[in-house]
Amino acid sequence: MAAYRDTLNTMRAGVIAGFMTRLAGSENKRAGDQFTNVLLMKDSTVTNFLKQMDYYGKSLSVGCTFCHAGAGKWDDDSKDAKKTARVMIELVNMINTQGLAKMAAGGGRAPRISCVTCHRGRQQPGQTLLPQ
Ligand code: HEC
Ligand code: HEC
Repeated sequence: MAAYRDTLNTMRAGVIAGFMTRLAGSENKRAGDQFTNVLLMKDSTVTNFLKQMDYYGKSLSVGCTFCHAGAGKWDDDSKDAKKTARVMIELVNMINTQGLAKMAAGGGRAPRISCVTCHRGRQQPGQTLLPQ
């Protein structure tokens, strides 16, 4: 599993490096302006947006095409996994801003969850106890 994850990490890093080369000079521009079908993360910079994509892959131990229809079709929404990912992004934002933000936390900083809080490198966190 560790070797499989390494392969996926390398694959995702290669795809992102390609994007960074093509978008050289636009790294700090808004993702919403540089890409055509960004609905939720419009205000991220291109660099942070692509880092986030890598993080999604890492959180679920998947490659880019788990959610995307393929190279050159990044704006296509036909895969269920991409649609689900949008629901998940909103779920995480909701838990952080409407839930955990109310928690009395030390240091004045409320705790936050992210994809890895549930997924931990698995596609389907489900309800089973680890290890599976
Ligand atoms: C877990 C699902 C998931 C994975 C894995 C994933 N993406 Fe995404 N990707 C999304 C979602 C969801 C959006 C739309 C975000 C939004 O609407 O704000 C998106 C949008 C994009 C866009 C913008 C396309 C456009 O023109 O609108 C690019 C480029 C992109 N992803 C690249 C990547 C790359 C490169 C990888 C692999 C390193 C990757 N994605 C991995 C879910 C994923
Ligand atoms: C509160 C827990 C939780 C968090 C946080 C969470 N997920 Fe999920 N995710 C789930 C559950 C539960 C499922 C349904 C699959 C299952 O039953 O295991 C799921 C399913 C998915 C699927 C579909 C997987 C498949 O095999 O079709 C994707 C894609 C996904 N999540 C992406 C994300 C992304 C991206 C994030 C961060 C923005 C995220 N999730 C955060 C709990 C979570």
